[in-house]
Amino acid sequence: MKLVLLAFLLPWITGAQHTKTRPNFVVFMLDDVGIGDIGCYGNKTLRTPNIDRIANDGVKLNHHIAAAPLCTPSRAAFLTGRYPVRSGVASLGSVGVFLFSASSGGLPAEEVTFSKLLKEEGYSTALIGKWHLGMNCNTRDDLCHHPHHYGFDYFYGMIMTNLKDCIRGCGSVISSGLRRRFTVPTSYLVITLITLVTLHYAGLFRVTWRVIFYGIIIVILLLALLQIFIYNLRNLNCFLMRDQQIIQQPFSVENLTRRMTNEAINFMQRNENKPFFLFVSFIQAHTALFASPDFRGKSMHGLYGDAVEEADWSVGQILDAIEKMGLRNNTFIYFTSDQGAHVEEAAATGEKHGGSNGIYKGGKSTNWEGGIRIPGLFQWPGVIPAGTVSDELTSNMDIFTTVVKLVGSSLPSDRIIDGHDLMPLLQGKIRTSEHEFLFHYCNAYLNAVRWHPRHSNSIWKAFLFTPNFYPEGSNGCFNTHVCMCIAPFVTYHDPPLLFDLSKDPSETTPLTPETEPYFHDIIQVIHQAVENHTKTVQKVPNQLSFNNLIWKPWLQPCCSSLSEFCYCDREGGQA
Ligand SMILES: *[C@@H]1O[C@H](CO)[C@@H](O)[C@H](O)[C@H]1NC(C)=O
Ligand SMILES: *[C@@H]1O[C@H](CO)[C@@H](O)[C@H](O)[C@H]1NC(C)=O
Repeated sequence: MKLVLLAFLLPWITGAQHTKTRPNFVVFMLDDVGIGDIGCYGNKTLRTPNIDRIANDGVKLNHHIAAAPLCTPSRAAFLTGRYPVRSGVASLGSVGVFLFSASSGGLPAEEVTFSKLLKEEGYSTALIGKWHLGMNCNTRDDLCHHPHHYGFDYFYGMIMTNLKDCIRGCGSVISSGLRRRFTVPTSYLVITLITLVTLHYAGLFRVTWRVIFYGIIIVILLLALLQIFIYNLRNLNCFLMRDQQIIQQPFSVENLTRRMTNEAINFMQRNENKPFFLFVSFIQAHTALFASPDFRGKSMHGLYGDAVEEADWSVGQILDAIEKMGLRNNTFIYFTSDQGAHVEEAAATGEKHGGSNGIYKGGKSTNWEGGIRIPGLFQWPGVIPAGTVSDELTSNMDIFTTVVKLVGSSLPSDRIIDGHDLMPLLQGKIRTSEHEFLFHYCNAYLNAVRWHPRHSNSIWKAFLFTPNFYPEGSNGCFNTHVCMCIAPFVTYHDPPLLFDLSKDPSETTPLTPETEPYFHDIIQVIHQAVENHTKTVQKVPNQLSFNNLIWKPWLQPCCSSLSEFCYCDREGGQA
């Protein structure tokens, strides 16, 4: 009798075990939203009740660090569990992210993403929203860097990022940069032509009219091409895809958040009875900002606040759907942002369009805490205790290892994985995280090191260089819109600039041998750590090299003929 009962119960017991150990995964990532924007991290005026719900019902990490202060490298690290330099998604130049959908760089195909491992484990997987890790390699439809190749079965979203250029009347980032770069060569050409004509008339130098004619034609062509390119940048870069098809070019922000939310919920409903991984990668609150009529003008923080509050609404809709499907107890939820808020961001009218990094210094594009201290919330009722807080060092690379361990898959053994399993910390089984050192890169340049010595409360952070804020005394690089990683835009420090984040989280007062008796010992340990770490970084092809960044016309994704300027709308009044 007992045996029969056991045989009867066994599948049930193991089945229950199964759902407990192999949960669904839902990851929310905001774009350029700072830790100071979120209610549960202390913002009292920007309303994020749904995001706060995750903290309430789960764990809030106070020391959660993005692997890079820019979108493309941070996302590469998040998906692969590795520092971006290891995959070559770290620029040696001044541009650290992909700017054109027709660039040839992207996350290398050999990289292992946790989405790929989940897919291999039988999960249904989807990316809804922003990708920003490349598109094509050699032809305009090889899609070598499309999310499909990185473990996402279903894709509804943008290959690139939302940029000011994506919404008419919002100004531009790329076109003003391009204009600057084109102005100099064109003006040289014009000056040369004028000089030639003058010399000709002065009888000092003879040129044929043919030369002048061709010169003028070249100038006109250059300017015309630039104008056409800039005018069409919105179509070229800002399109919406469903799987491998472009369905809206340029994308419309009308109801966009609602469409994305529906897509996310429909995906979960289609997979209600199978394990799934849903990555909701919001394009809010990157500029150009937008919000639906229901949210416009409703927040206390202008359009930026409206955009964040709408994203919060979307999070709430998705959480509600999980609850309604009865999947709450076997769904692992992670909420984060790709890096800190972009403090330099403002509208043409001067309205502040960047978020808040709370008490932290600097923002996006810097390795000051404001650039990389991100929200990190986890929820899994019954497994992760509710309402707990951890101050331990964690990284957005940790999700890789955590997920891999949870589904019982094995970590790739042929490469270094920098993330650690978060479960013991989230469950309160250990008090100290496994991260003793974290290395902070500004593009491909090692910028700072964080050291949490075991059995010590101090958290040292040593900067090898710091960005020069402009205007001096401000909190960002307002002259260049983002901070740079190379001279003359940075100041190098030898010995490194040292802070103790446990006492000075806002990084206001660098320590000296006078104020910190162990100064030299600390610096020595950090130098040794840098040496050990650097030895593990191998040389790999650079995905953000000049050649991999430039716009290549033959790679341009286009849903209609060029004469229709790559325009189409196949969303068909969905929404
Ligand atoms: C809340 O967020 C808004 C918008 O970013 C910001 O202006 C405000 O300073 C934040 N409040 C706090 C207390 O950080
Ligand atoms: C979900 O887990 C919580 C916490 O363990 C428990 O109280 C609740 O009854 C569970 N709900 C369901 C539907 O199993």
